[in-house]
Amino acid sequence: MTSHIKYAMNQNVDLTTFDNELELYKIKSINPSCNLVIRIRCDAVETQCPLGIKYGCDPVTEAPVLLTLARDLDLSIVGVSFHVGSGCNEPVAFRRAIAAASDVFTFAEQLGFINMYLLNIGGGYPGNKDTCLDKIADIVNDALDEWFPASSGVTVMAEPGRYFAASAFTLATRIHSMKKRSTIDEHMMYFINDGVYGSFNSILYDHSIVVPKPLNDYPMGKTSPCSIWGPTCDGLDQVIDQVNLPRMKMGDWIIFEDMGAYTIPVASTFNGFPLPKVFAVANRGIWHKLKNLMPFSEDHFTTVPIVATIKMVRSESSDDDTWEENDVEYNTRHYPCLHMKNMFSVPEA
Ligand SMILES: Cc1ncc(COP(=O)(O)O)c(C=O)c1O
Repeated sequence: MTSHIKYAMNQNVDLTTFDNELELYKIKSINPSCNLVIRIRCDAVETQCPLGIKYGCDPVTEAPVLLTLARDLDLSIVGVSFHVGSGCNEPVAFRRAIAAASDVFTFAEQLGFINMYLLNIGGGYPGNKDTCLDKIADIVNDALDEWFPASSGVTVMAEPGRYFAASAFTLATRIHSMKKRSTIDEHMMYFINDGVYGSFNSILYDHSIVVPKPLNDYPMGKTSPCSIWGPTCDGLDQVIDQVNLPRMKMGDWIIFEDMGAYTIPVASTFNGFPLPKVFAVANRGIWHKLKNLMPFSEDHFTTVPIVATIKMVRSESSDDDTWEENDVEYNTRHYPCLHMKNMFSVPEA
């Protein structure tokens, strides 16, 4: 928006991205000396969330036109950016995008933009615990060696989002009600205290697949079919439609890992259900290292184990369901000692 461009200018921000003519005219009229990065479109075939449908110009048909206009407007182009799509499942898309960016660099330099120094390879990197960056890293490094070697002098930057955030948070939910789906099968419906209007909005907006893990050990090993539902009035508020879990009871906790990306920031308090409380958990050693380095106070952290954290939340809540101390046992196998990358968000019990 125009006001954003003005605000950024007043904050001495002198680098921004564009992908269409109107933005160029706006920048020309508000902050003509701003350095510009052209965002090109290069979509991975498989992504959790495609972004190219909204942003990025075609590198072959549109970028040359935009760069020519920028030159005619006497604007300063300094680089190229792309985002292959969030949650990219096609690593080779990065190779295509870097090759396309190289062509745009060449065209821009031929037009007379002599300060082309920046390549922004965006986000899209996976962040769940069972994912790995290596394949993408190999492809990116090979492509950079080919089209943007160190000798090119080009600065390469990335904007990882879910890579940092996803595995940093574990969500702990609690069963507040349950019923059999019908009289003819054993399918149980479990109702928990967070749903698609809360943290699990990521199921709708981020197309995420969430995996429930009961907090307790259920030694009998017997599982039965069930579904998991959020707390609101809406039938859409379903977290999982079919999964096999041990037979659980009121008050049991269900844990969901990898809940750090695109969850709470998008959540609402629809129907009056509060957002989860977020606790940062660290062992004392980590805490002692961090506390003088970062802008955190002791209030931001708990140094007690997760189960103690749950119990603390429980004791703060006004819920008076029956609560058995033995319901929750701290299990170091599942929840190793925690550091900054293991935060824990707990909805109101
Ligand atoms: C411009 C830009 N950069 C980076 C990101 C982070 O993406 P991701 O979480 O896929 O790494 C986004 C997310 O939408 C974005 O729009």
